[in-house]
Amino acid sequence: MCGIIGYTGHRPGVPVVVEGLRRLEYRGYDSAGVAFGLKGGLEVIRAKGKLAALEEKLAHEPVTLATTAMGHTRWATHGEPAERNAHPHRSNDGRLAIVHNGIIENFQEIKADLLGKGYVFHSETDTEVLVNLIAECRKSQPDLLKAFAAALRQAHGAYAVCLMDRDDPDTLLAARMSAPLIFGIGTGEHFVASDIPAFLPYTRQVIFLEDGDIVRCTAGDYAIMRLEDLAPVRHPVQTITWDMQAAQKGGYRHFMLKEIFEQPRVITDGLSGRVQDGKVCLPELDGLPVPERLHIVACGTSYHSGLWGRHLLENWAHIPVQVEIASEFRYRESLLLGKGDMVLVISQSGETADTLAALRIAREKGVPVLGLCNVVGSSIAREASAVILTQAGPEISVASTKAMCSQMLMLALMALYWGQRNDGDAAERARCLSLLESLPVLLGEALPAMHERARELSRKYAQARNFFYLGRGHCFPLALEGALKLKELSYIHAEGYAAGEMKHGPIALIDPAFPSLVLALDDELYPKVVSNMVEVKARQGKVIALCNTGREPDADDIWRIPALPSPLAGFMALPALQLFSYEMADYLGKDVDQPRNLAKSVTVE
Ligand code: F6R
Repeated sequence: MCGIIGYTGHRPGVPVVVEGLRRLEYRGYDSAGVAFGLKGGLEVIRAKGKLAALEEKLAHEPVTLATTAMGHTRWATHGEPAERNAHPHRSNDGRLAIVHNGIIENFQEIKADLLGKGYVFHSETDTEVLVNLIAECRKSQPDLLKAFAAALRQAHGAYAVCLMDRDDPDTLLAARMSAPLIFGIGTGEHFVASDIPAFLPYTRQVIFLEDGDIVRCTAGDYAIMRLEDLAPVRHPVQTITWDMQAAQKGGYRHFMLKEIFEQPRVITDGLSGRVQDGKVCLPELDGLPVPERLHIVACGTSYHSGLWGRHLLENWAHIPVQVEIASEFRYRESLLLGKGDMVLVISQSGETADTLAALRIAREKGVPVLGLCNVVGSSIAREASAVILTQAGPEISVASTKAMCSQMLMLALMALYWGQRNDGDAAERARCLSLLESLPVLLGEALPAMHERARELSRKYAQARNFFYLGRGHCFPLALEGALKLKELSYIHAEGYAAGEMKHGPIALIDPAFPSLVLALDDELYPKVVSNMVEVKARQGKVIALCNTGREPDADDIWRIPALPSPLAGFMALPALQLFSYEMADYLGKDVDQPRNLAKSVTVE
């Protein structure tokens, strides 16, 4: 979850690293720190809180002389957010400093052993244990690279680490195991970082490091080796085609707002090259059999996409689908039968620890795994039997928005594609495809008015401390997503519920201070949803009805959005829900792009 970056080259290293941390801050922002060589020593400067606190401290330091530096932005796992737990961590002998993203699972055992040898610890972190383990290994193995590898071989868990040595301050060592790490190759300079935007202003040439890789680099040279035996490995150098513009706010107040407004473009890009002569082209799936049973596994917003996709996959492709939260799936004896089964893992980041674990379980059972990911080169993208990239571009806001839209699009295309292979209804397919192709324009036109209405309603309901989001059928997953967005951004308690379930208990909560946002779109379940809404109103519950012009129920507030045939209407409802949460959070003065306690990439279980 944390973000790390290392730089060695010809520029002042600390400003490069701090700028990189700013672009990694979405991964965690409990504390930040940097290390750099200065006058024969290794300086470590750290601060609790956001990067601005670190910058304040750095303003008083002579940092510009160092051309090698590394930094860290933290999402706390072991140890509360405090300066003593901030990275970089030093070894007891003061010679080494390390930054780490991930969790060393056996750190307690290692710590007990090191305590017995006289080591002392100043933090509660697993990282401080790791750097001292490296120092301990160095006692019997003076070559730091070998000592680093020996220590990592003893550490179980997930890590992306970068190490600096006081005695050789212009060399960086780095390694990855189950946590993302990308190597950037510039002219006379090298980078390691948790994500590409950290160094994209300087180079587009990257190597996606793999689990078990160790890197040693200086400004002019680099080598990648296997952790196992330090044998050299060669990975292709890839060129990043998107630019920094995509990772900047582009005039919007927040990344989240920009990303919501990018959704028409996301749909255009996602459709590009995917439709030819009225047929869906998904060459990624051509080599795989049509699944007889599909198990969708994901977390958070990606899980909600999967729930939404189930409706289309069952209706259009006639494939039975189960959808499960990855953290549950991985510890359940699931009935993956092998033959005929397929697992579909959905993940924006491609690094979510539980989703990745689910992928590995399925692969061990010999079941083909299809990955639906946004981040090129991510662990899930690389380990899946086949991968479909959602092409949404970098999503910086911690709350996921455009990624869900892109996942829904790809799920719709998959449903149509498998329907095509199962000899489904060609006329129905052509109708859906033409609707999908008209979506970018329709959505682009609708967004400004939707934004305005979201703003009005957020002001009106800003006093609420609780919210229900109600929906049925394909709108139920959207209700779950609407509630997730509201709680994570505004810290208002919100529950997504299947509208028909309300009378089985939750309706007891309804009173005039507990409003419901009801998805009452013009589809086959509209009359049923209206009945559920009437039941809420009869208990003095306030209702906002998200509905289509011409079919407007009796509600306290009507929110009209353009009609689209079900289930594609979800592409119109989703941004409305996102904008409502955005406006609510912004109005309440919350940190929209970096909500408290969260991180973008959840690489710990
Ligand atoms: C909510 C949100 C999270 C993620 C979840 C899965 O706005 O962003 O719920 O959807 O952590 O992340 P990925 O899709 O990267 O696996």
